[in-house]
Formats: sequence, structure tokens, C-alpha cells
Amino acid sequence: MTPRIQKIRKAVFPAAGMGTRFLPATKAMPKEMLTLVDKPLIQYGVEEAVAAGCTEIIIITGRGKAVLEDHFDKSYELEATLAARHKDALLEVARTVSHLAKITYTRQSEPLGLGHAVLMAKELVGNEPFAVILPDDIVESDVPCMKQMVEAFHETQTSILGSEVVEGAAIQNYGCLDCTPDPKNPRLLAVKDMVEKPKPEEAPSQNAIIGRYILTPRIFQMLETITPGAGGELQLTDAIKALLRHEKVYGFSYEGKRHDAGDKQGFLRATVEFALRHPTLGPSFRGWLKDLQL
Ligand code: G1P
Repeated sequence: MTPRIQKIRKAVFPAAGMGTRFLPATKAMPKEMLTLVDKPLIQYGVEEAVAAGCTEIIIITGRGKAVLEDHFDKSYELEATLAARHKDALLEVARTVSHLAKITYTRQSEPLGLGHAVLMAKELVGNEPFAVILPDDIVESDVPCMKQMVEAFHETQTSILGSEVVEGAAIQNYGCLDCTPDPKNPRLLAVKDMVEKPKPEEAPSQNAIIGRYILTPRIFQMLETITPGAGGELQLTDAIKALLRHEKVYGFSYEGKRHDAGDKQGFLRATVEFALRHPTLGPSFRGWLKDLQL
């Protein structure tokens, strides 16, 4: 019998972090609402999930994150005002946000780590493979990164972790893969082992995990058994390492460019690049930048 091809319908967005790297901006505002030009980080991620075929979005929130729900909800006042003023294009922008997908929220009441945050989605995900998108990682690409991964998943039918090669000591900021390229598809990296935030001299490779995952539902059993790891937190990487004892796991070298928008430097660079490519703002912004004569 041909095995049933499983679809990726659900995408989980951990968004409960305190965003301390962006204080004071994130004291009262979720870091997921920081905007690149005119769109909050989390919306880029949700649009990517929708472009990959996901129809259900699960956002893991925490204290002070209610504005995320407002953002993706219908705003009657705004829509009525824009309609009365015949601002049709803006009305369309406002409406599109609230029609992107079915969005469900669940809370992580204690900041126990990324693994713990994903575990909060267990009931909502159920027994099917699902996507995880970390909204800090913004990936620009012709084919949306998660769509590339969903296509690879159709081939593998097993967990896939977005991956890229990082320079030198930077590997200590990431989950790191001990892996070998698949001879049939070199974008797929067969994972042998993995370690969260290794010391550079102990890293098995320069292959970092980025904030894009497709996981099989067995990950929830693993998340329930792991103990605190790097930084004293329940790490998703440790649960995936445990999953390796039962199933194959692949890294995936995606095509595209990632911005670490969770870091001030990365956020600024992403802002400039997105502004330069913006259809209406881009040309004048480019001219202004040139005039700075740095
Ligand atoms: C998390 C993961 C790490 C991954 C990274 C990608 O770390 O724990 O494995 O490499 O996201 O952005 P964080 O950036 O939350 O410390």
C-alpha cells in the first residue's frame, strides 16, 4: 500500500518571549509587533505559513501579548472609518490581515524555553505533522522558505529543520547539526546528532538550525520527557535529538536570505533592505541613502 502523504496544515508560532534584547521598545509591546517598514514581524511569518499551504495558525502567547490578537482580528472601527472615507486600498490592507488564516492562541504562562512553548500547542496540533516558525527569523526568498520545506517534506515524510552555514563563533548562538548531505538531494542533510548553542570549539559543524521546522507529532512525547538543557531551558533541539532515536530527521539548506530581526543590528539591516525593495518607498529611500555619502 502506498503510504499516505501527510499535509502540513498547521503552523505554530512561539511568541511568548520577553524580548529583552529590544528593551525599552519591548517593555509594553511584544517584540513580534516590531515592524519592518510597515508590517510587524509576526505577519511576515504568518504570510509565509499561509503561502506554504497552512490554514491554521497557532500562536503561543504570554503576558502582555494581547495586541497580537488585536492585530489579526477584524477592526470594525478602522474598517468603517476607511470605508466612509473611501480609502479603498487601505481598507483592503486592513481586511487582508484579519482574513489570512484561522488563528488560535494559547498561553505559555512561564518562560521555560522554546521546547516548552511548542509543547503548549500539543492539543491544538493533535496527531499530525506541523510547521514551527520563529517570528524573529525573517527569510526573503523567491519561493517562501516554509513552502520549500513543505515540498521537501512531501519527499521525506519526516521532520525537517531549516538550516544554514554560519561563520566561525556565531554557531554558539544556534542549534547545531552534525549532518551529511543526502546523495540524491544535497539540500537535504541527514542528521546524525545535534547540540544546542555549542561552544565554538566543540561544535560538530557550522550548520545552524534556523527558525523554521517541520516536526512529526511524536515530538510532543519527546518534549514531555526532556530535562532543562542550555541556559537552564527546555530546548526544542534536545527534544529533536531525542526524536532521532525513533525517526529520521533532516536539515534543509533553504534558498534565500535570512535576517535575524530579533537582534538590533539584524533588525536595522533588514529594515534598510526591506525599505530599499519597497515598491513605493524604495526609489526615494535609495536616493536619500545615496545622499548621505557615508
Ligand atoms: C532558537 C533555537 C535554536 C535555533 C534558533 C534559530 O534559539 O533554540 O536552536 O538555532 O532559535 O533562530 P534562540 O534564538 O531562541 O535563542
